[in-house]
Amino acid sequence: MENQVRADEDTIAAITAIVESHGTSRSELIPILKAVMDELGFISPVVVKELSARMQLPCSEIQSVATFYRMLSTQPRGKHVIQFCESAPCHVVGGRQIMEALKKALDIEPGETTSDNRWTFLTTSCLGVCGIGPVMLVDTDLYGNLEPEQIPHILSRYD
Ligand code: FES
Repeated sequence: MENQVRADEDTIAAITAIVESHGTSRSELIPILKAVMDELGFISPVVVKELSARMQLPCSEIQSVATFYRMLSTQPRGKHVIQFCESAPCHVVGGRQIMEALKKALDIEPGETTSDNRWTFLTTSCLGVCGIGPVMLVDTDLYGNLEPEQIPHILSRYD
């Protein structure tokens, strides 16, 4: 219980700093939620409640924005986030095999986080670099022309 109180205090302190730097205008909601992701890793119910009070917005509106955009999450994410492109142009040049290699290496399905919280595995639509498909993002690092045997080696670069 004490840990929970501390966690909530830390969350509220982080929100205070973020709101101070962005202001409380409704147009800042997405930048603020993005900053929350960077700072806290996900948008918890405490975050939604605090932002609702400070920005004079309904919790339901904040929650629906938080669940709409893939860059935002209401669930905790792992230390590293993989976004694998599952759109057709990547699919036809070997995307399926890369997907299988990722599932095998991570031992999870898309949308899940590993039990050690090291990896979150997400799929995404076209990343705009179809010419080098199949592609994936690991955090902000882009990998293209992927071959299944490269996957364990790429993942091993991340601590
Ligand atoms: S379809 Fe994968 S990057 Fe465009």
